[in-house]
Amino acid sequence: MKLSKGYLIDSNDLNLNDLKLIFDRTDEFIKSGNFSDFDYLKNVPLALAFFENSTRTKLSFELAAKRLNAHVLDFNSDTSSLTKGETHLDTIRTLEAMGVKIFVVRHKEDGLHKFLQNNTNNIIINAGEGESDHPTQGLLDSYTLKNHFGSPKGVNLCIVGDVLHSRVARSNLILLKKQGVNISLTAPKELLPKDDLIKGLTIYKDLDEAIDNVDVVMLLRVQKERMKSELIKSTEEYHSKFGMNIKRYERKPELIIMHPGPVNYGVELDEKVILYPNCLIQNQVKYGLYIRMAVLSLLSDYIKR
Ligand code: CP
Repeated sequence: MKLSKGYLIDSNDLNLNDLKLIFDRTDEFIKSGNFSDFDYLKNVPLALAFFENSTRTKLSFELAAKRLNAHVLDFNSDTSSLTKGETHLDTIRTLEAMGVKIFVVRHKEDGLHKFLQNNTNNIIINAGEGESDHPTQGLLDSYTLKNHFGSPKGVNLCIVGDVLHSRVARSNLILLKKQGVNISLTAPKELLPKDDLIKGLTIYKDLDEAIDNVDVVMLLRVQKERMKSELIKSTEEYHSKFGMNIKRYERKPELIIMHPGPVNYGVELDEKVILYPNCLIQNQVKYGLYIRMAVLSLLSDYIKR
């Protein structure tokens, strides 16, 4: 069984059958342990092309590709010929001439990934696109929920904070809705998008009201670097209404806490909260490696050798 598309640009590219294939393959890789490797990408050149900073996504894709025996090229935009005016498409074509078959791309420009995919016969994987999408983050979040609850279906989950600028929120809204998660939101009104994607969702006035009603809170990073104006006047005020602290946690210790990282401590959550057993941030990172191994191994069926 193959994935329905030979690339991963948009969370909408994934249907329920694709999700099952990816999660089953993820289970297999997790069972295999930390030190096994596999030949799905044996000798396949793969480029990591990150035009925005990253720790989790970049390094987990790198480790995933290496565990599948790919030849990994770490493309550095700052020292590349992009600085001399070369275009992104010419960069892809140049690497294709060297035999690169898979491009893992992070870029701040919405739509660039689709444009590149439309202009290549090789495989583009979206590792974070502007404010639009981050499909493998959505996948690893779904997998984390599936692993904790058995199935995400019927889980009540509130997305908290900077939904407006968050590609993570958009990916999760698409993928979790598809799997029957009951999604709600809470955020300052300035950080909520006017978007069909959130139409009909319950919006809680603050985190306390959300906690009373949900099983999971997915805290989002406040993305100051993407704000065109000061949408949050005071981080203290934000934290008092929307930040996770020990008092809130102790009121409902069974509450599950997720955050895609990186975390702004004292804004989205207090540092001590990450030590609590139901805070799944480290699980999200751990599953990210295996989810990315699964995606790469399944897309290997589409490599033009
Ligand atoms: N969650 C996430 O995308 O983290 P990085 O920016 O560190 O990759």
